[in-house]
Amino acid sequence: MTKEIILSGIQPTGKLHIGNYLGALKNFVELQKANDCYFFIADYHSITENYDSKTKPQQVIELAKDFLAAGLTPKKSVIFVQSHIPEHLELAWIFSCLVPISYLERMTQYKDKAARQKENINAGLFTYPVLQAADILIYKTTSVPVGQDQDQHLELTREIVRLFNNRFGQTFILPKTLHTPSPKIMSLLEPSKKMSKSLGEAHCLYLDDKPEIIRQKLAKAVTDTGDGKSQGAKNLLDLVEIFSPKKTFAKFSRDAKTGTLKYSELKQRLAEDIIQYFADFRQKKSQISDEQVKKILAIGTKQAKKIAEKTLAEVRKKIGIS
Ligand code: TYM
Repeated sequence: MTKEIILSGIQPTGKLHIGNYLGALKNFVELQKANDCYFFIADYHSITENYDSKTKPQQVIELAKDFLAAGLTPKKSVIFVQSHIPEHLELAWIFSCLVPISYLERMTQYKDKAARQKENINAGLFTYPVLQAADILIYKTTSVPVGQDQDQHLELTREIVRLFNNRFGQTFILPKTLHTPSPKIMSLLEPSKKMSKSLGEAHCLYLDDKPEIIRQKLAKAVTDTGDGKSQGAKNLLDLVEIFSPKKTFAKFSRDAKTGTLKYSELKQRLAEDIIQYFADFRQKKSQISDEQVKKILAIGTKQAKKIAEKTLAEVRKKIGIS
């Protein structure tokens, strides 16, 4: 059996929420134990949305600290920043000359984001998934751990593999999508929608949130009258299953079945368990310096660049550009 090559990226857009953690980052930490792993900070993707150029450099550093505090280590994974490997962009251009516009027009994330930022529907937002395909394929990745919202982008990546290989000969293999058991964590206030920073602070629980904020946000999460059947209630019960001891989950599930679930009790318990769960993360993150991060990223850049250059040289030759 050939060894898996795992790659995934996260955009540096501020704080990570528990959706990012449970859908992606937690899995990265597991996967690095037995695979060749590449994890990167997708800074070029992040400038497709409205952003502040003054805070961006620190957002990159903060996300690298999140990676490290969660347990990623340069001993096991290649950790780097997307923009430090400009080969990604070159491959993205090559792919954009292969992929029909109609494929990109189908992308639901593009449609959602375009609807959200009508004053800034830039071309980068439209070609975002092409750059994502380049991120993945430049390392000949075999599996990509992501949340459910990335499924369509991964499907497009596989389309690009087919288009490229058909035209220029076998070069890339089809990368698989890897999901965790919780690939779609829902918003606290609008539980029919996925948890997302774009909905607003109160919809999300951030890994960095202070204990008091976690208690306040959970206290305001929407629920129902005690039978656990609404989406909000189900979402909270799912979180209890993830963050609380088995016994606690069993108790609240029983209460939901008998219609006697007391949400104030559940929310208080869940808040304490989440606070506890991320205590170590917060402590570790506070001890990582910017200098340490920069050193680790420089090592990752070197390692990633070697592979990226090799793939790009192969691709350029195949497409007749030398
Ligand atoms: P980003 O930064 O939006 O999200 C990072 C990861 O978090 C997952 N995620 C969720 N998982 C479960 N529940 C949620 N509510 C939730 N919200 C977000 C996302 O699915 C993602 O895995 N396009 C990517 C970044 C990227 C990338 C790549 C990923 C760029 N190039 C190459 C994989 C491979 C993104 O938007 O991530």
